[in-house]
Amino acid sequence: MDHFNYKDGELHAEDVPLAEIAAQVGTPFYCYSTATLERHFRLFDEALEGLDHMVCFAVKAASNQAILTFLAGLGAGMDVVSGGEYARARAAGVPGARIVFSGVGKTRAEMRMALEGGVRQVNLESEPEMEVLSAVATEMGVEVPVTVRVNPDVDARTHAKIATGKAENKFGIPISRAREVYAHAARLPGLRVIGIDVHIGSQLTDLEPFRMAYRKVADLTRTLRADGHDITRLDLGGGLGIPYERGNNAPPLPVEYGRMIHQELAGLGCEIEIEPGRLVAGNAGVMVASVIYVKSGEGRDFLILDAAMNDLVRPAMYDAHHDIVPLREPAPGGDMHAYDVVGPVCETGDTFARARPLPPLAAGDMVAFRGAGAYGAVMASEYNSRPLVPEVLVKGDQFAVIRARPSFDEMINRDTIPPWL
Ligand code: LLP
Repeated sequence: MDHFNYKDGELHAEDVPLAEIAAQVGTPFYCYSTATLERHFRLFDEALEGLDHMVCFAVKAASNQAILTFLAGLGAGMDVVSGGEYARARAAGVPGARIVFSGVGKTRAEMRMALEGGVRQVNLESEPEMEVLSAVATEMGVEVPVTVRVNPDVDARTHAKIATGKAENKFGIPISRAREVYAHAARLPGLRVIGIDVHIGSQLTDLEPFRMAYRKVADLTRTLRADGHDITRLDLGGGLGIPYERGNNAPPLPVEYGRMIHQELAGLGCEIEIEPGRLVAGNAGVMVASVIYVKSGEGRDFLILDAAMNDLVRPAMYDAHHDIVPLREPAPGGDMHAYDVVGPVCETGDTFARARPLPPLAAGDMVAFRGAGAYGAVMASEYNSRPLVPEVLVKGDQFAVIRARPSFDEMINRDTIPPWL
């Protein structure tokens, strides 16, 4: 459920007509609903009730400071994967004790930053990284709580570019080598081994891969405890999918995911962390665009929008489906027309959808891409020198621009001309 609905024939974000925002901000823009963010965060929190737990929002999914500040106010922890994300979480008021540092290639500078500012735990992904963190912590005279990310070799049954838990993926250490790697970590000064981390992929639409991975983690917990490690925390990653297509194979709900976690892991008495990104932010955001032209091609009509692959790259990058709806409510049972929905960027890949049934649209009409709140604005670029797409946040009947569209001058003036040119 989200808070983007038609009222009086106009698509609203909560109580604000999106057309009103468009009139002020111009298109394209992203718009987020605080009510949806809150609802989705709380669903996870409630799903883990009864377990000692922390929901750490995966900052990579939507990292605008206003969104992070809002979630921090709800009590969210944060999962960060870079120094930049760590800095954002801290700037949003999240204490170090609620920040988990993940990521496959942390640099010394990033480690130092986290150790200075405080960190709940560092999730280690390899033995070389373990040794470097040990050296950095020892230099600084501190001890850092760590987990090791294990790769359970399960098939997440998701898009190949966002599956992370198969043996061939670059993430974590093979679970088959966990005992020796944990023994190595336990010998290193400056590290305190406290748990196990796993994350098998994103946009999972089935609980079984999670269940298989978590069973392996439960077995490993017992094995490592028998080896003398004090395993008290399990970080289960993120990955629960969202329904991108209305009425089509809906993924399991957070409450079902939570029930499965209770079944598989409650008996171990560990603290549980999860790192959802997409399910918290995905359906809490839309991208609004205007039709520039309707162009008739051979056997197809193109809807040429003022948004492009640089603003929302998911369709080009993962062949992802986003529902597209007009801002003006179509008459029920009215005519539909199949359009190829494209952007103005000079690449064939700049295609949002092919033969998409939509009500007849004309230049100047506006459409919203649903499910664009996660991995939308954060993956935007200025390719084709199109200024970075702005972001707007809605709460009830109020809205605010939370990232303004840069002017051409601002975009150009970020570059500098060498004195010798
Ligand atoms: N934790 C770790 C260690 C991760 O790598 C990720 C996502 C998450 C948590 C959050 O996963 P989520 O709950 O959002 O599925 N750009 C792609 C998605 C990449 C996901 C990367 N890692 C997309 O647009 O589909």
